[in-house]
Amino acid sequence: QQNLLTYDPGFRSTASCDSAITYIDGDAGQLLYRGYAIEELATHCDFSQVAHLLMYGELPAPEQQSAFQRNLNEYNLLHDQVLSFYHGFRRDAHPMAVMVGVVGALSAFYQDSQDYSLDEDQHKAAIRLVAKMPAIAAASYTYSIGRPIRHPDNNLDYASNFLQMMFGRPSEPYHVDPVLARAIELIFILHADHEQNASTSTVRMAASSGANPFACIASGIATLWGPAHGGANEAVLNMLEEIGSPDRIPEVVRRAKDKKDPFRLMGFGHRVYKNYDPRAVLIRDTTRQVLAHLGMENSPLMATALELERVALEDEYFIEKKLYPNVDFYSGIMLRAMGFPNRMFTAVFAVARTVGWVSHWLELKRTGHGIDRPRQLYTGSTLRHLDK
Ligand code: SDX
Repeated sequence: QQNLLTYDPGFRSTASCDSAITYIDGDAGQLLYRGYAIEELATHCDFSQVAHLLMYGELPAPEQQSAFQRNLNEYNLLHDQVLSFYHGFRRDAHPMAVMVGVVGALSAFYQDSQDYSLDEDQHKAAIRLVAKMPAIAAASYTYSIGRPIRHPDNNLDYASNFLQMMFGRPSEPYHVDPVLARAIELIFILHADHEQNASTSTVRMAASSGANPFACIASGIATLWGPAHGGANEAVLNMLEEIGSPDRIPEVVRRAKDKKDPFRLMGFGHRVYKNYDPRAVLIRDTTRQVLAHLGMENSPLMATALELERVALEDEYFIEKKLYPNVDFYSGIMLRAMGFPNRMFTAVFAVARTVGWVSHWLELKRTGHGIDRPRQLYTGSTLRHLDK
């Protein structure tokens, strides 16, 4: 029977499903959401339009957009008992650990139906997740620093609301900086979906068993946290801080090329892109704008990152293996300049990617093919018997 199996470790050349959501041409460095180029969406759309596009297949007409925003506003509050979960965590817990727990626990709150087989229940669960995620992420930060948790303000858009819940001080009005709000919106748009990446595939596999949607998204958050995936944005900043100054770059590049050294250049390389990740270009440019806006043009972190990119892209090893900066290379520099601590970077990614995860969950509910069940090539012992 084993001879009939196709062996594809890491699913490098296996399509696990049909999907009409996102298209990537890795050689050309092209990314499309529902057929629209990411550059066009990032320039002309706001986050709620892109979320609607990914979840429902089309950009919203004005009245659909208002209805979508109304739904986000209706469902963005955290239940008082959900807020009490936070107090069970250590203050120094990693925000991603807290988010896995809190989002998974939402399964115990929203039991609209046993199996989410009704269209209406599915859409309500999807909206609830997208609506609540900024509050869940922001609370994991404010709890960690001992500041009271702030509630959403329905006069603000999705991105601005996240900023006020993160950085607003108790009983002081929060003044939205439009440049920073647009920058975080760009981060949300660019991270919203990326077809069958590890976390989305995990969500789909969990969903294939009929698991509760909140539990499925919790499994996606857990997978995203790994440093080879979404956790790379935090790892990049830690790496740049450790490098300290551009003159240490040759040594770092030498280590990244050494097969005996486990060190890899974080924020570089991609399973699908064998070209510049188009999201990295947009994030690099916006990072420059944010730094200029904040009077941080001479950021040593940015100088080190730009020099590291220059050196790597001229190096034979990186050229031959087609290793380019990915989405995680510059985002941490921008987030850090805005005041996000390194440990929140992957939580920001998770807020954005929730749109992609629920879009895939909704798609799977409509077009799924039953439970996922990969096979294996068995390498253990043949039949043997106990010594009696
Ligand atoms: C994300 O899949 C998605 O779409 C993910 C994502 C999304 O939006 O969901 O785009 C988000 O996860 C971005 C990736 C973030 N991770 C990192 O930045 C961590 C550093 N990068 C790598 O560990 C690595 O490049 C991966 C994990 C991203 C990809 O791994 P692959 O597919 O195994 O890489 P590969 O097969 O193309 O590697 C080819 C060669 C290998 O060497 P050889 O065995 O051929 O000699 O390139 C080497 C690798 O060892 N290599 C690196 C390297 N990345 C790959 N060498 C040094 N530094 C690196 N960063």
